Amino acid sequence: MSGPGTGGGNGDALVPDHETMRRLAYRAVDHIVDRWAGLEADRPWQGASRAAAEARLDGPPSEDGGDVEALMDWAVREVFPLAGRIDHPRFMGFVPSGPAWPAVLADILVSGHNVFQGTWLESAGPSQIELTVLEWFRGWLGMPEGAGGILTSGGSVANLLAVVAARDLAGAPEGGVIYLSEQGHSSLERAARVAGFSPERVRKLATGPDRRLSVDAVAAAIAQDRERGLHPLLICANGGATSTGVVDPLPELTALARREGIRLHVDAAYGGFAVLTEEGRVALAGIGDADTVTLDPHKWFFQTYECGCLMARDPGELERVFRVSAAYLQDTHLQDREVNFGDRGIQLTRAFRALGIWLTVQSAGRRRLADAIGAGIDLGARAGAWVEAHPELELLHPASLGIVCFRFRPLDGEGRDAGPRREDELEALNRELQERMLQGGHAMMSSTRLDGRYSLRFCILNHRSRWEHVEAALEQVVREGRALS
Ligand SMILES: Cc1ncc(COP(=O)(O)O)c(C=O)c1O
Repeated sequence: MSGPGTGGGNGDALVPDHETMRRLAYRAVDHIVDRWAGLEADRPWQGASRAAAEARLDGPPSEDGGDVEALMDWAVREVFPLAGRIDHPRFMGFVPSGPAWPAVLADILVSGHNVFQGTWLESAGPSQIELTVLEWFRGWLGMPEGAGGILTSGGSVANLLAVVAARDLAGAPEGGVIYLSEQGHSSLERAARVAGFSPERVRKLATGPDRRLSVDAVAAAIAQDRERGLHPLLICANGGATSTGVVDPLPELTALARREGIRLHVDAAYGGFAVLTEEGRVALAGIGDADTVTLDPHKWFFQTYECGCLMARDPGELERVFRVSAAYLQDTHLQDREVNFGDRGIQLTRAFRALGIWLTVQSAGRRRLADAIGAGIDLGARAGAWVEAHPELELLHPASLGIVCFRFRPLDGEGRDAGPRREDELEALNRELQERMLQGGHAMMSSTRLDGRYSLRFCILNHRSRWEHVEAALEQVVREGRALS
């Protein structure tokens, strides 16, 4: 390892003297603030091959320890830079996350207190704060009184809990079937696999030209499965699909699920917090009537990783599904309305994730957060309009909830559309264009596929992103596209 020297020390390495503790903690904070201060001038991404990362970073464990300050400095200098700056204003790939400063402060406090939040006995205060923020979410989503949930490591685990709950609450019948949109997130398919659904019991339903689930198509699939003697259990709808931002017809799907006596889950991991805005409330109308809803505060609610959430119309159902008693936990039984969060999911040892949410909301205020989310929606819409107005860009799906899907299409020498090019040529060109945007440090975009076509994709959720960042990225896309044509 070309790392820091060994030796030195600060008294006891496990618990240094208090002066040293403060000096080291301030040093860590200085690193973080320096990073935030320099973020915009930095590139949005830097990668390395495994071989390069190994050569630079790998090494044996220290036998006798080293200077923690030098080690921290080394990690900041050598390790952290080899990564995406997910919170960079021009990081618009995948689903970005731009934490708010109070969320970072909460992380520091949570690490330093290291509360075990699996049982009420060991975490009455933190568990109450989790109940409080879940109650805020309930109100924002418009779920009925009594709804609640659990904070999870992310959307994937929240989706898994929803699928397992649907299976077990129906008595885990032979032949249980779940219904997904082809636009649904991959974590739902994985959840079904983990929950023991064979691929033939997972219907990935095609969507129409608007890329939303068709209620008639879901109803027909359910009817067909009933005829075959199978047991429909759960419809999973999108509350902001990852590729395009679309929202499925939630009220109609809820009505269908009720008629059929099955459950409706809405995966609103990325899109759900848009309910704080007027436009999002319209797009997500009906979300509060679902049986379960996945939210990811570490996406569009400005929390640090890992912070997801499953909301349930009846959180008691989660407890019935996930609670397992054990002799060594017999002291953790509850008196009254307390909650052992370890009973609502699959983690017993859990961190105090709610503090970041609580501190962010109570210090910034709901209105400021709603404005930040609304700004992302507006930037997406503005980028969509810019693309649509540009003769060399093709909008592949209308902008929705901060996501824009498009591609570059070259003009001929006369300034006319160069005509129908082969799809594979357009794909190769746009792939190369995307790579140049990344390697040149211009913007982190990612891509998706829509009707088999390769699509560039912006996902603008960052409270730091402004129109100048988005416009600069779009202009660079055009420049790179021209250079490649
Ligand atoms: C709609 C949707 N659902 C689920 C997930 C998975 O969430 P996580 O990565 O937090 O596990 C994502 C992640 O992007 C998502 O966009």
